[in-house]
Amino acid sequence: MQAADPGQSDDGLAALFEAARAVRERAYAPYSRFRVGAALRDERGGIHAGCNVENAAYPVGTCAEAGAIAAMVAAGGRRIAAILVCGDGAGLVTPCGACRQRIREFAGPDTPIHAAGPGGIARSFTLAALLPESFGPETLGE
Ligand code: THU
Repeated sequence: MQAADPGQSDDGLAALFEAARAVRERAYAPYSRFRVGAALRDERGGIHAGCNVENAAYPVGTCAEAGAIAAMVAAGGRRIAAILVCGDGAGLVTPCGACRQRIREFAGPDTPIHAAGPGGIARSFTLAALLPESFGPETLGE
């Protein structure tokens, strides 16, 4: 985890991108060979990163976003202020459906989700755009 630099002018996007790009290099993806890195900023400005970790029992593998969220929670963070996913696909690499729901647990409809390639951010979305009319903690009414 590293602290956000309050002097930065890009809302910390460069730091998020760099964290995701770097952790992507440590991805364990011997089966798909599709490396993904994710980095998020929490409510305290901390950055948490994760990569995909595949498994010989294929469904047991985990996505980069799941790793980043687990790192945030383990460090005491509880809200995702922004998240960036970095992959090198033929098209845009956005969070998979399950990861959109994982993000939803700790984010609001306006939370930015940035899709990046190795060269930088390709497109930016809000959570509501990627997961409209979503089910979340408030739905349970607790
Ligand atoms: N993957 C992620 O890590 N995040 C996503 O949102 C999309 C997919 C990983 C899972 C698997 O290890 C590889 O990419 C190919 O699907």
